Amino acid sequence: MRHATAGTALTQEYAARFPQSRRLHARAVASLAGEAAHDSWRFDPFPVYFATCDGARKTDVDGNTYIDFWMGHGALLLGHHHPDVDGAVAAQLRSASHYGGAHALQVEWAERIVALVPSAERVRFVASGTEATLLALRVARSVTKRAAVIRIDGHFHGWHDEALAKAIPHDVAGFNPGNVENLYVLPFDLDLLSDAVDDLRPAAIILEPGGGSAGALPWSTGSLAELRRLTERSGTLLIFDEIISGFRYAPGGVQELSGVMPDLTVLAKIAAGGLPGAAVAGRADIMRVFGAGIRDGTILSAVPHTGTFNASATSAAAAIATLDKVADGTPQAAADRATGRLVDGINRCAAAHGAAVRAFRQSSIFHLVVGAASDERAVVGPSPEVLISQRTHRKDYAALRQSLLLNGVDAHLVHGWVSAVHSEPIIDAAIEAFDRALARLGRGADAPNIFRS
Ligand SMILES: Cc1ncc(COP(=O)(O)O)c(C=O)c1O
Repeated sequence: MRHATAGTALTQEYAARFPQSRRLHARAVASLAGEAAHDSWRFDPFPVYFATCDGARKTDVDGNTYIDFWMGHGALLLGHHHPDVDGAVAAQLRSASHYGGAHALQVEWAERIVALVPSAERVRFVASGTEATLLALRVARSVTKRAAVIRIDGHFHGWHDEALAKAIPHDVAGFNPGNVENLYVLPFDLDLLSDAVDDLRPAAIILEPGGGSAGALPWSTGSLAELRRLTERSGTLLIFDEIISGFRYAPGGVQELSGVMPDLTVLAKIAAGGLPGAAVAGRADIMRVFGAGIRDGTILSAVPHTGTFNASATSAAAAIATLDKVADGTPQAAADRATGRLVDGINRCAAAHGAAVRAFRQSSIFHLVVGAASDERAVVGPSPEVLISQRTHRKDYAALRQSLLLNGVDAHLVHGWVSAVHSEPIIDAAIEAFDRALARLGRGADAPNIFRS
C-alpha cells in the first residue's frame, strides 16, 4: 500500500503548466481578500484562471482548453453562449442594462416561473440564491408569526447566518449569535422532524428537496410527502430550495417529479438564465406579505424588501430565453443521458486503474466518491457517507482535480454539472481525460491513497 499524499511531482507539473495563472494568482494574493471571490475557487497551489468559454468547453489564460463540468455552478444547463440567450442579452443591452424602475421583462420572467413551477403563483426577484433563502425565511416568519426555523443537516442554502450556522464554529465564522438562536439543524429523519415540529412549532422547514449538497444526499417522494404532512399538521411552512433541482431535475423541479407542493420555493442559477438573479416563489395568499394585504380578516404588514439588482433586465432577458428552451424537458433529457454515459465511463476507468474512485449521478449532476472500492463501507450513491468521504479524503480529491486539470477537465472537487451541449463525443473525450488523469495519478512515488497496491 502506498501512502503518499497530494504528490509533490504532480503539484510541480501543475505549477509549470499554468504560468499565466500562477502570475495572476501572485497578484491576487496582494489584492483579493482570501485570494479569491468564492471559497470554492481557491485551490492549491493556485487556481487556474479562465479566459473564454464556449458550449461545453472553456480556455484558460495560458491557452489550455478544458471540458467544463462547472457550467456556471449549475446555472448553464444550455451550455456557454447559447445563441438564443446571448442574442436576448445583447438585444437587451441595446435597450437598457438597468431601467431604475418597472419593466416588462420582470413580468414575462415571473410568468415563465409561474407557468413551469407547479406551486408558484407569485414571484419576488432578488439578486442571488443567498438572498432568496434569506427572504423566504423572512416571509415564513411574517406569515406564521413564529421565530424558529429548521434546516436539514448537509443541505446548502447560501452563506447568510441561518444558512450556514451550526455547521461551523460561530465565533470563527463571524455569525451573530442573536441571528441564529432560533435556528435548528436536524438530520433528515422523519421521526425526529415530526417531534421537532410539535415541540418547536417552527415558522418553516427549509431543505433541498432533490437531496442536500447538490444531490449528494438522497431524496424520495415518500419522505417529501411525509414532510408535507407533518408541516401542514403544525402550521409550519415548507420551503423547497430548488436552486439546484429547479428546471434541471425536471422543468418544474422536484415538486413536479414528486407531486409534493411546498409553500415557498427558492430558485436561482438556471432560473436566471446563467446570469445573476434568483427568486422566491409561492402561493398567492402567502406572497401577499409583500405589500400590505388582508388574509382571513387580518391586516398583514408588508415584508420590507428592496435590492438594486432585483429582476435585473439583462438577467431577465437571459432567463426568459433559457426558460423557454427548458420548458419541454428536452435539454434536461440530453444532459441526463450525457451524465449517465460519463458516470459509466468514469467507473470503468477507475476500476481498470485500480483507483478507489467511483461516480454516481443525481439527474445531470455527477458526484465523485473517492475512497470507494477500497472501503467496503463506502456507498456509491446519494448518502451521508458521501459527505464524510469528501471530508476525509480531501487531499485525494485535490490530487484528482489537479490531474484532471492537467488532462483537460475542469470540475468541482467533489461533483460536476453536465449540460445539454455535452454531446457524446465531448463526454467520450472527458472519459479519456479521466482515464489519463487516473493513469497519471497512479504513477510514481507520489500516487495518492486512492490507489491500492
Ligand atoms: C441549494 C442552494 N441554495 C442556495 C445557494 C446559494 O446561491 P448563491 O450562490 O446564488 O448565493 C446555492 C448555491 O450554490 C445552492 O446550491
